[in-house]
Amino acid sequence: MEAKVTTTTLAEMKARGEKICMLTAYDYPTARLVDEAGIEVILVGDSVGNVLLGYPSTLPVTMEEMLHHTRAVARAVKRALVVGDMPFLSYQPSDSEAVLNAGRFLKAGAEAVKVEGGTPVLGRIRAMLDAGIPVMGHLGLTPQWIHQFGGYRVRAKTAEAARLLLQEAKELERAGVFSLVLEGIPWQVAKLITESVRVPTIGIGAGPYCDGQVLVLHDLLGLTERVPKFVKRYAGLGEEIRRALSEFRREVKEGKFPTLQFSYEMPPEELEKLKKG
Ligand code: KIV
Repeated sequence: MEAKVTTTTLAEMKARGEKICMLTAYDYPTARLVDEAGIEVILVGDSVGNVLLGYPSTLPVTMEEMLHHTRAVARAVKRALVVGDMPFLSYQPSDSEAVLNAGRFLKAGAEAVKVEGGTPVLGRIRAMLDAGIPVMGHLGLTPQWIHQFGGYRVRAKTAEAARLLLQEAKELERAGVFSLVLEGIPWQVAKLITESVRVPTIGIGAGPYCDGQVLVLHDLLGLTERVPKFVKRYAGLGEEIRRALSEFRREVKEGKFPTLQFSYEMPPEELEKLKKG
């Protein structure tokens, strides 16, 4: 097995120009597959809310739900860096709540946490770092801010908004984040930020010039119904599952499954005794 990935590994990768791969995982079997594929970072994303739990957004996701999924992922992972995504209202109210909840992620097996936002969360980030908890930042189209943004639209499209975002990226870097997710922004802005900060940037819907890329695993595998423009589907598991389920249904209805090949057999002498009564 290759060496365990740490926050230092990611800094070294940026320094030598090696791209960083990050994917979401929410459970034991998929986390094991992602880890074994050599993906460097596994994010237990609050996207679990939309993707697995059927919520309309990430806002209803609770700490208990996140910890449940983080424990399952941490049990599976041997090499990747496991990052726990702090859900809405688990860090916003106060520094002490941020530290306590981030600490619960580490107790559940995560090795770092991610929070959404720039200037408004700088104090929270510093408080968590002071408690020895590595923090990943997240800027741009941050889903927990969706009502303030007024919808899921690409951010930082004007020069002024791009300048503000760059400033926030630098502030997050100064505060001490070990990495920065850039979501839903023009590739030119992501490139500028990537070239302007020393910490690795990891893009999603932010073009090819970030230091790494992240996708939601279920989008990449074809398990979600609708995907945004920036998602490339590397497999069609949704169709494959549908095919398997309808074949199972048909074979059961037609008495073709199970055959004796899939059945247990009684020893002949016991069968004789049974028949004699
Ligand atoms: O929750 C999530 O999956 C995320 C990624 C999209 C970065 O925050």
